Amino acid sequence: MTHTSSTDTIPDAAGTPQHVAIIMDGNGRWAAARHMPRVAGHSKGVDAVRATVQACVDRGVEYLTLFAFSSENWRRPADEVSLLMRLFIMVLEREVNQMRANGIRLRVVGDVSAFEPALRKLIEQSQDRTANNHKMTLTICANYGGRWDVLQATRAMLDARPELACAGAAISESDLAPYLAMSFAPEPDLFIRTGGEQRISNFLLWQLAYTELYFTDAFWPDFGAVELDRAFESYRARERRFGRTSAQVAMQTAAP
Ligand code: IPE
Ligand code: IPE
Ligand code: MG
Repeated sequence: MTHTSSTDTIPDAAGTPQHVAIIMDGNGRWAAARHMPRVAGHSKGVDAVRATVQACVDRGVEYLTLFAFSSENWRRPADEVSLLMRLFIMVLEREVNQMRANGIRLRVVGDVSAFEPALRKLIEQSQDRTANNHKMTLTICANYGGRWDVLQATRAMLDARPELACAGAAISESDLAPYLAMSFAPEPDLFIRTGGEQRISNFLLWQLAYTELYFTDAFWPDFGAVELDRAFESYRARERRFGRTSAQVAMQTAAP
């Protein structure tokens, strides 16, 4: 199913966000503060992923999307990149059974063609094995970039509908949307970035158009249920207007 843009209607921001998207940042600084190698921060970050997944399931979040490796992270030292790949493989091998038991559907989005064949196979198997789960969809963005996503969607749309190549002015947002990597999910309601930086770093550029943004100084390995609740509390205090006035929003919310 392709979701229509969440900006078309006014979702109920008073409740729990339906889709939470997180940039898990600060692993290296968490480790450096403890005089440990950066990779120790990444290992500890896996525990935070586990805790956050469980906390989201417990709170009724339907979609959790985690930025694990950006298209720019290849610029890091080779040994850090290969450790991150090994960690990814380990998590997929160890956690998929638990995901099955917990009703979690796993999706991996990004340019997986750059990964070694064994990892690609593991990704495919993990997705297949959890495909029929419905409690929460956990999406891992790996070798993902927002610009890559818009480009790959444009190419896929033109491959599928070549007639659009000669009718550029007629192309609408809803023509492109089904080809975006996250077309299976509604747009994120809440974006969280840990680690103190206040930037998007080429995460979901198209999909974050009207997402509520939340930044915390907490490093990712320290993130979990407590920090998540702080973010939700901030989210619940927001008024999502999507271009409308406050009075219009109040009227719609008051309507039966
Ligand atoms: C996020 O933590 C993990 C990845 C990008 C894979 P960092 O490794 O970016 O940690 P800092 O920002 O250097 O502290
Ligand atoms: C963003 O973190 C990517 C992930 C968390 C996977 P970075 O730490 O790589 O971001 P920049 O480069 O500092 O913006
Ligand atoms: Mg970082």
